[in-house]
Amino acid sequence: VTVFVPGDSAALAVGADKVAAAIEREAKTRSLDVHVVRNGSRGLLWLEPLVEVRVDHHRIAYGPVRAADVPGLFDANFLEGGVHPLFQGQTRDIPFLARQTRLTFSRCGVTDPLSLEDYRRYQGLKGLEKAIAMAPADIVKQVTDSGLRGRGGAGFPTGIKWKTVLDAPGDRKYIVCNADEGDSGTFSDRMVMEGDPFVLIEGMAIAGLATGATKGYVYTRSEYPHAIRMMTAAIEIAREAGILGPSVMGSGHTFDMEVRMGAGAYVCGEETSLLNSLEGKRGIVRAKPPLPALQGLFGCPTVVNNVISLASVPVIMDRGAAFYRDYGVGRSHGTIPIQLAGNVKHGGLYETAFGLTLGELVYDIGGGTANGRPVKAVQVGGPLGAYFPPSLFDTIFDYEAFAAKDGLIGHAGIVVFDDTADMMKQARFAMEFCAVESCGKCTPCRIGSTRGVETVDRIARGIEPEKNRALLADLCNTMKFGSLCALGGFTPYPVMSAMTHFPEDFAPTPLVEA
Ligand code: NAI
Ligand code: SF4
Repeated sequence: VTVFVPGDSAALAVGADKVAAAIEREAKTRSLDVHVVRNGSRGLLWLEPLVEVRVDHHRIAYGPVRAADVPGLFDANFLEGGVHPLFQGQTRDIPFLARQTRLTFSRCGVTDPLSLEDYRRYQGLKGLEKAIAMAPADIVKQVTDSGLRGRGGAGFPTGIKWKTVLDAPGDRKYIVCNADEGDSGTFSDRMVMEGDPFVLIEGMAIAGLATGATKGYVYTRSEYPHAIRMMTAAIEIAREAGILGPSVMGSGHTFDMEVRMGAGAYVCGEETSLLNSLEGKRGIVRAKPPLPALQGLFGCPTVVNNVISLASVPVIMDRGAAFYRDYGVGRSHGTIPIQLAGNVKHGGLYETAFGLTLGELVYDIGGGTANGRPVKAVQVGGPLGAYFPPSLFDTIFDYEAFAAKDGLIGHAGIVVFDDTADMMKQARFAMEFCAVESCGKCTPCRIGSTRGVETVDRIARGIEPEKNRALLADLCNTMKFGSLCALGGFTPYPVMSAMTHFPEDFAPTPLVEA
């Protein structure tokens, strides 16, 4: 019997290793033939560790399982799908999963992440095989036609970026995968690297063929040790199998890659400071132009794409541009892995076509808050994203719709707050975060963020609140338009949205003179 126990960090954090060991121990004691596979996570994080059993070609789920539950599961005959209080039925029928459109995450949580055999069995390498038979310009055209936009946050068309690199003169070109997933409440990059690393390798190899780049780097954070191990092991396996190396799958094209680890600066997720860090320099933002696509890593034409952008390419090459493009709304095509976090009942990863409303995501899919209190706000797009009150929950998940409401979908993280949240504290936190993480290159961000913290503190203490609120708004305006990169440029989003939508939190009781 095959039993699946996720080896994803989210499952490990709640005892998955102990559960796997307990299952093996119990099976041995009962002389039962059990094979434990350490799959990735399905992304139903409130059910982790989610143990699955293969019964008659179906998967039956149990969760959340603790090591102490294991003898009881055996007593309930879970190896044959027996009923138990943790029984969740067939995995694919769990509503949170059944309602998704899993294109990029189709294998995540299903396969053994380091089994190439599994990868091929579930459509893996089909996109790369098709790309090998195509001219570079045709690969780029297919990605452009699919409508895929950068999933790191900025939403720039991936195909147009690739075309710039393809057309740029240069003997040496690079593919850099931005896996420095720094946004609060986001974990989709990590889940790919831990749960389906070959899809990222395949996407990067296709990007290499499309642009003429021969070397790739996955730049990720030191906080992701498990992802680093899985990615490194998968690269080694792919190299041995001839998927990477001097002749990618016998095509005659060279492409190889490696993993590089950052040192914990949020700003190293910004593409130019990431490139500096990769070159061994301090992670300071570079002025653009020149664009990395023209002069990137070591001055060479470089594609810098987020993990999800690259991991979405194999399915586009395999199923075609029209297939992918047909999902979504407006100019937001395809699917997006939305990550629900914070005070939410059903936290996890939800891949769906663009177009659901924020309210559907928070209430229907997320189930509202975990503690049952009313939702006060959600922050979308990481620490630099805007706070949305429930009155804006009819906003649809789409790049343009969010921009129209002074927000951003960023890397698609949604963090839910209940009615006890103090939005002035959140605004202060945004300024403080910017002050701590600022690379120091430009004045609006370096100085402005510290002045911002002081100004919020003055409002909180009731010192000339009206004047200081106006000053804060003015400061935000300077940071938004005067900063060199998104860190200083987007910090005003959480600050201004908090002040605009929750003015009551910025109206403290006036100081009582002693
Ligand atoms: P940007 O708008 O400057 O650039 C977007 C991308 O398009 C860049 O890669 C740029 O080099 C490229 N590009 C622009 N014109 C091009 C052309 N003609 N040819 C080829 N490439 C071209 O945005 P930026 O500053 O790189 O990113 C800001 C975004 O990052 C924000 O929207 C934010 O949501 C997101 N972000 C994501 C985080 C994460 O953890 N994933 C963390 C913080 C911010
Ligand atoms: Fe550096 Fe901040 Fe300026 Fe970005 S906005 S370049 S992080 S100082």
